Amino acid sequence: MEEELLRLKAEAVAALAASGKDELEPFRVKYLGRKGLFTSVMRQLGQASAEDRPRLGKLANDIRQELELTFAARLEELGGGNVGGSGPRLDLTLPGRTEPCGRPHPVTQVMEEVCGIFEGLGFTVAEGPDVETDFYNFEALNIPPHHPARDMHDTFYVSDSLLLRTHTSPMQIRAMTEQQPPLRMIAPGKVYRCDSDITHTPMFHQVEGFLVDRKVSFADLKGVLSVFIAKMFHSDTAIRFRPSFFPFTEPSAEVDIGCVICGGKGCRVCKQTGWLEILGAGMIDPAVFAKVGYDSEQYSGFAFGLGIERIAMLKYGITDIRLYYENDLRFLSQF
Ligand code: DAH
Repeated sequence: MEEELLRLKAEAVAALAASGKDELEPFRVKYLGRKGLFTSVMRQLGQASAEDRPRLGKLANDIRQELELTFAARLEELGGGNVGGSGPRLDLTLPGRTEPCGRPHPVTQVMEEVCGIFEGLGFTVAEGPDVETDFYNFEALNIPPHHPARDMHDTFYVSDSLLLRTHTSPMQIRAMTEQQPPLRMIAPGKVYRCDSDITHTPMFHQVEGFLVDRKVSFADLKGVLSVFIAKMFHSDTAIRFRPSFFPFTEPSAEVDIGCVICGGKGCRVCKQTGWLEILGAGMIDPAVFAKVGYDSEQYSGFAFGLGIERIAMLKYGITDIRLYYENDLRFLSQF
């Protein structure tokens, strides 16, 4: 066996010296591989006598190690390659390559934040269809045909009675026709209006909120919205309720916050007023309760609706709403 080992070594050394780059891998397989010649000689070790075995074992190991070193040296000499493979040499000291990591869109992030705050206040989340009926979107919200409020909505019609919802308020009707009070819900989702400029896109996102129970007052509305604004912006953000009109609430208000850019001193963003409008709200009109069969002598409620893109613009100081929908990674990766 000793002779066999030595012969194999001489043969291998000669073969290695004569081999080109392409023959290295076949060499490795033939001599040093798991089913290679060397392995098969070493298997005969078991047949050697007990006294010869240690010496032969050591010899075999030494030769094998030597061959592996010679092989590595030859590989290097012929211009590298991975031991046991082909292709460029591996530099194990190089830092790893990181995969670029995606993240939620800024609109999604703000949407989740808004919903999270109301969920924390015990509101449940409901979603409804983007294609809505005229009844839910207008009629049941006290906006009959030819009502001037319809003009403000720039509606995309699908047919005479079907449209892309222009606000999330129809979810008030859907919820109230299906459930009895008490109700405490928010309805996030996409809404559509035929309008496009630096503050309007034809599709945008709103969150509708409403609460119906016995003895709900405007003070409850103010309390809930104050908590929301303090959590969404700064705990000491100023709030102002300004009288307004919506057909489905009475009384109605628009809610302003102290300008987050200038702190109320007056700047371009707040048009020198020191205030930014962030949502519409009010006490649900008894005419709406009548449409869904609630007794307005027993129940009262408030509702509010806010635009997500607008809140995100105020929060991050974004001046052009269209940036959200251009999918420019230089913009998106900042959030
Ligand atoms: N639906 C209104 C809009 O899109 C927003 C709104 C105003 C919702 C007052 C309300 C509300 O629930 O009470 O312009």
